[in-house]
Order: sequence, then structure tokens, then C-alpha cells
Amino acid sequence: MIPAIIVHGGAWDIPPELHADHRAGCRAAAEAGWIVLATGGSALDAVEAAVRVMEDHPVFDAGRGSHLNRDGVVELDAGMMDGRTLMAGAVACVKRIANPISLARRVLHDSEHVFLVGEGAERFAEEAGIPLCDPAELIVERERLLWEARRRTNDERRTEFGRRSSDTVGAVAMDAAGNLAVGNSTGGTSFKHPGRVGDTPIIGCGLYADNTMGAAACTGWGEQIMKAVLAKTTVDQIALLRSATDAANVAIAYFEHRIGGRGGVICISPAGQVAWAFSTPHLAYAYRTADMPEVVAEVGVRAIARERRE
Ligand code: GLY
Repeated sequence: MIPAIIVHGGAWDIPPELHADHRAGCRAAAEAGWIVLATGGSALDAVEAAVRVMEDHPVFDAGRGSHLNRDGVVELDAGMMDGRTLMAGAVACVKRIANPISLARRVLHDSEHVFLVGEGAERFAEEAGIPLCDPAELIVERERLLWEARRRTNDERRTEFGRRSSDTVGAVAMDAAGNLAVGNSTGGTSFKHPGRVGDTPIIGCGLYADNTMGAAACTGWGEQIMKAVLAKTTVDQIALLRSATDAANVAIAYFEHRIGGRGGVICISPAGQVAWAFSTPHLAYAYRTADMPEVVAEVGVRAIARERRE
């Protein structure tokens, strides 16, 4: 039932002491997106509004509060896609952008390109009138302490399942006109190599939207999600199975069994069905559809996908 919105606040083994903040942050994001949809705004506007709320909330690995890379610096990635036009915009490895989702949206609308990285992306931001922030503003004490601990132990192994407290954020929305949009934003993995980019901003991997097929956003271990092209895999399954729930379950089952994948997906079908599935211990999410009086926000415990049907 439209309009509809679902947001995610990351997968992994979210510590119990952070569950309330994850729920609250996801709820606030879904409510911000819902207000846009309920007042006739577009799915793109709703996705941007929702993701910005989570980028601003320090509990998530996006915007302020993100994990630090090996150099002790926050490097951010984000992407957006419009299911009506298939236009997309993405940025990666930006260090001075407080809300990279808004920069990704400007790339979508105002650039001849789809994907800008690093200094070039920041130069585009300046040209577009998006202010650059002090990189120190993106760092919170929790992450600085985590980085200090990792550095002391000289732990340069890859980030593995269960070793993160928070993850990527994202949103999928369908507006009253039936248009789909998706957006994702992340600080990537903790102690990542400088220049590392995960699935989050990559079209088809971390996000995909097509009005005729469905839309999906992913969270979890980016190196695995990229191999599974998980967002497009989910959308292909929606088109095939005509069920968001079945598609989310099939995509995550393939992801898990084929490559031991750890992550989650949220999605909306062209009929406005909202669903989610994950192979991690937890997934933080919130959603609302037209038949619901308010947003439902949860930190889900590993289970099969559930669905809101009209
Ligand atoms: N899924 C976020 C990342 O791996 O960067």
C-alpha cells in the first residue's frame, strides 16, 4: 500500500546497549521520510530526508559517528537511484562532507556522471554550493577509542563478521505516484585501508531501483555484497517472484549459501510491499506503509524476512 518507506540502520551483531539508539535513529529517519511522502513529496526527497537523519545520528556508521580508517580519518561513501528514470548518483572516499547522501543526489541531478570520488567529489560539492566540513567534526569519541585500540594491537586483519557495532544506513521509498527511490550512506569498515570502497555507493551492489521491477538497499560486509551484486539480485527476484518477502529471502539465502555472505537487505516491490531479510545476528530497521498509524522500528533478531501486505 502506497506511499511506503523502509529504512535500515545496519546489520551485524549490534550490542544490546546500542539497540535503543538504533531503534530511535531508525524511527526518526522513517518518520522524516514519511512526512515527506505524506505531504506529497517524491520518493527521492523522502529517501534523502531519511538518510540525512541517520547520517546526523552518531550511533550509525554514516556521516558523523562513522568508523575511522587506518589513518584515523573518516572516509564516506553514498549513493542514490531514481526508479522512475534510472538516474543514479554516487560519491566515495569523501572526507569533508557531513551529508554525503545530499552530494550523491546532486551528482544524480546536476552531473553528467554517475560516480565521483575523493577530491574530485569534494570539488563538485563546492561547485554545487555544498559546504565542506572540518573532518574532525565527523569523529566521535566511541570511534576514536575503537581506532586507538585497533592501532595498539596492530590489528590489520580484514574486518570480519561480528566485529562491528554499527553499519551502513539506507532507505527505500515509494511515493504516492508509485515512484521508487533508494539511497545508502556509510563510513565503510572499521580500520579499512584508505581508499577502500564497499558496496554502499555502487549501483546494483548496495542499491538499485527500477519502478518496473522494485527497489532494494543493502547493508553488511561490502566485499561480499559486491560479489553477489546483492541489490540487483534482490530486485531481479522481486520481478521474478512478484513478492518482496520471497525475493528478500531468496537473495539472502543465495548470498549466504554461495559465499557465506553476512548482511541484510530492505526492499519495496512495485506493488508497494515492504520486506527485509538478513543473515547477520541483527538488522536495525523501521518502516511505515499507508495502512499503518505510525512507524514500526525494531532491531530484528536473525529470522526470515517478514512483510507488510496491503
Ligand atoms: N556495507 C558497508 C561497507 O562494507 O562499506
